[in-house]
Amino acid sequence: MTTLADYLNQHATNPALNDVITTVTDVGKTISQLLRKGALADILGEAGNQNVQGEDQKKLDVLANDLLLDALAKNAHCAGVASEELDDATPANDDGSLLVLFDPLDGSSNIDINMAVGTIFSVLPYERQGQTSENSDYLQAGNKQLSAGYLLYGTSTVLALTIADKVVMFSLDPETSDYVLIEDNVQIDADTSEYAINSSNYRYWRAPMQQYIDELIAGETGLRGRDFNTRWVAAMVGDVHRILCRGGLFTYPFDTKYAHKAGKLRLMYEANPMSLLIERAGGGATDAINRILDIEPTDIHQRVPVVLGSKNEVNYVKELHVNYSK
Ligand code: F6P
Ligand code: MN
Repeated sequence: MTTLADYLNQHATNPALNDVITTVTDVGKTISQLLRKGALADILGEAGNQNVQGEDQKKLDVLANDLLLDALAKNAHCAGVASEELDDATPANDDGSLLVLFDPLDGSSNIDINMAVGTIFSVLPYERQGQTSENSDYLQAGNKQLSAGYLLYGTSTVLALTIADKVVMFSLDPETSDYVLIEDNVQIDADTSEYAINSSNYRYWRAPMQQYIDELIAGETGLRGRDFNTRWVAAMVGDVHRILCRGGLFTYPFDTKYAHKAGKLRLMYEANPMSLLIERAGGGATDAINRILDIEPTDIHQRVPVVLGSKNEVNYVKELHVNYSK
């Protein structure tokens, strides 16, 4: 049996990175316990606030955010923390060498219906050690991430993590509270017949995305010549987990539903960490034209269209978009 602590000792060459990953995953144990208690923990329902994206926050969003923030602020290696739930990044320890970004509770509309939610995190290097970190320090392309991962609080709690080029998975043992290694080299098949999209937004998509989904729905009667199946967890963390387990395509595409937004998902807290995991597992991740990991961010809360998963399918979606814009 290999625990997360064993694995980090054996594989991470950067002790600071081990330490912040341990902090995040320890908080994940607490969040997992709170979720298991459910309504009994008096944590469900609206907190009465809106987050920086103008969405209602659930009580547990706030709690998960605060738990992560407090724990990371105490970690000597952490120079600052940026959360999807907070307007500005929070400076932590000026001498730290790492910045940590997170979506404390992804898919939070699932909490009240007892469905899967998760915590997504990303670690970037801090270049101005000794000085107080600012929002601008986080504006680094996703290809600079030193590590990324998520905790999925589903029927069991699973940690997916990438350090040192590999994607690995751990399952949280509820009896010992250890993360135990269950997959030591996650790989995604290049082909798939499963896709995830919120089709109710069809009329807001660009023509190439409408064409793509039309082709999938036509199945064996259309030009793809085979049937496809839809799955939608309504929590990105759940859809990405399914893709790491058995392949598939996930997209939250560009849409015109909200004029000022380029897509729904956030580059720094969702798209980048998930893209790193997916690429390192052999899949692809694009905004439909460009590689997500190469996007130079201009704002810590910016949104981005996302198409990720099985490589051949992702490349096909990209091809449709590139050809359309020619
Ligand atoms: O964080 C945003 C998010 O909750 C994702 O986790 C999920 O994929 C998506 O939004 C769900 O969107 P919709 O409400 O359109 O189904
Ligand atoms: Mn989210």
